Amino acid sequence: MKRHVASKTLLYPMPAVLIAAGYEGEIGLCAVAWIGMVSGTPATIAMGLRNVRHTLPLIEASGEFTVNVPRAGMEASLDFCGIEAGGGAGKWAAAGLTPAPAASVSAPLVAECPMALECRVTAMHDVGDYRVVFGEVVEIQADEDVLTADGNVDVELLDPITYVPGTREYRALGRKLADAYSVGKPLKERAK
Ligand SMILES: Cc1cc2nc3c(=O)[nH]c(=O)nc-3n(C[C@H](O)[C@H](O)[C@H](O)COP(=O)(O)O)c2cc1C
Repeated sequence: MKRHVASKTLLYPMPAVLIAAGYEGEIGLCAVAWIGMVSGTPATIAMGLRNVRHTLPLIEASGEFTVNVPRAGMEASLDFCGIEAGGGAGKWAAAGLTPAPAASVSAPLVAECPMALECRVTAMHDVGDYRVVFGEVVEIQADEDVLTADGNVDVELLDPITYVPGTREYRALGRKLADAYSVGKPLKERAK
């Protein structure tokens, strides 16, 4: 039998990424878990940023940001960026992270993250004390060592970090269960 669960912000699993932005020489970096792909055409990401975050005005002013995917082993740097507010370039250095130029936006990339999505803000929507930022993905770049021979991202090599709310843990991806858009086909056949 199901029972009421008090917390209303539980959803499993959540991504754990670093959002970077810059404006007029100032650069910001923060950890974000409330983020997801919300449209395919155009490819669009939405994320919830509490309106006190120092990275938010940089995104608003520049209209751009990058979503940097840390790999397993980068938990301490990621966590630091989620518990240290503001600090500009000093925050990057203290996290052991290096800003690098992106290909299509002015926002910096995190050089140590094996994958980055470059985004341009297309909309913002206020929900309580959060600002939901929508960003069109204009470019994705990944390190060669996480790519397959045909240029696709190999998630095993990428080894991204997930965030588990409630117990507040970082976890690696679990085992593969089945092929998506495929394992359900026998049920679809039977439903005809
Ligand atoms: C794992 C993790 C996930 C987080 N996710 C979010 C999030 O989705 N939205 C948000 O506003 N803050 C989130 N935070 C908090 C910010 O990262 C944190 O307040 C950070 O210090 C903000 O940095 P800034 O003020 O320099 O931008 C998260 C923190 C952690 C540790």
